[in-house]
Amino acid sequence: MAERKCIGVILGSIREGRINDRVAFWVIRQLEGQGFATRTIDPADPDLLPVQTGDAQAIGRLRQRMADLDGFVIVTPEYNHAEPGHLKTLIDSVTAEWWARPVGLIGYGGLSGGLRAVEALRIILAELHTVTLRDTVSFASPWRRFDELGHITDPNEAAAAEAAMAVFAHRLEWWVDALADARRARPYHPRDDG
Ligand SMILES: Cc1cc2nc3c(=O)[nH]c(=O)nc-3n(C[C@H](O)[C@H](O)[C@H](O)COP(=O)(O)O)c2cc1C
Repeated sequence: MAERKCIGVILGSIREGRINDRVAFWVIRQLEGQGFATRTIDPADPDLLPVQTGDAQAIGRLRQRMADLDGFVIVTPEYNHAEPGHLKTLIDSVTAEWWARPVGLIGYGGLSGGLRAVEALRIILAELHTVTLRDTVSFASPWRRFDELGHITDPNEAAAAEAAMAVFAHRLEWWVDALADARRARPYHPRDDG
């Protein structure tokens, strides 16, 4: 049996009482249901939290967690029309781990469903030589939709979200394969990162 492709699922919030876990649990379950393996990368993990102040050892641990992954999915809230600052710091703390990797974006928030944070992240992730997926899955007011274990409580909403996530996963897999083939054929080294 082919080895499962492994996706790093990056959480966007470190806020106490965050909703992020619920949405991330759901995303992880969906990705695994679609045949991926996952590795959670949580900026609030005590091993990774010092990344926020540039701690070299913590950045080393982050590099290790991001190494050898086939792609990433970022699950982000929207704070004041953008991604949370600590998510930006985590993203900024590594370079080569991003290169030529696909990144899928899942957003949540108030009325916006996190879509402005998702679009803001695309600009940042382009600078890091990633390819972001066209498709997103987004949730307005997730505190009304998810239980604590990350299950969507309304069955119709759950079915619609699962269908959207199946399309997302299908396209993610295409980019995972396409970019893995491309990196094998020709390792990605930006000639000029200025
Ligand atoms: C500082 C702050 C700013 C926010 N700004 C927005 C916003 O611009 N648009 C929006 O839709 N929701 C906004 N929200 C609502 C959050 O997206 C919502 O509270 C979400 O649950 C936060 O994610 P978390 O609980 O995982 O930290 C904001 C929340 C906070 C704490």
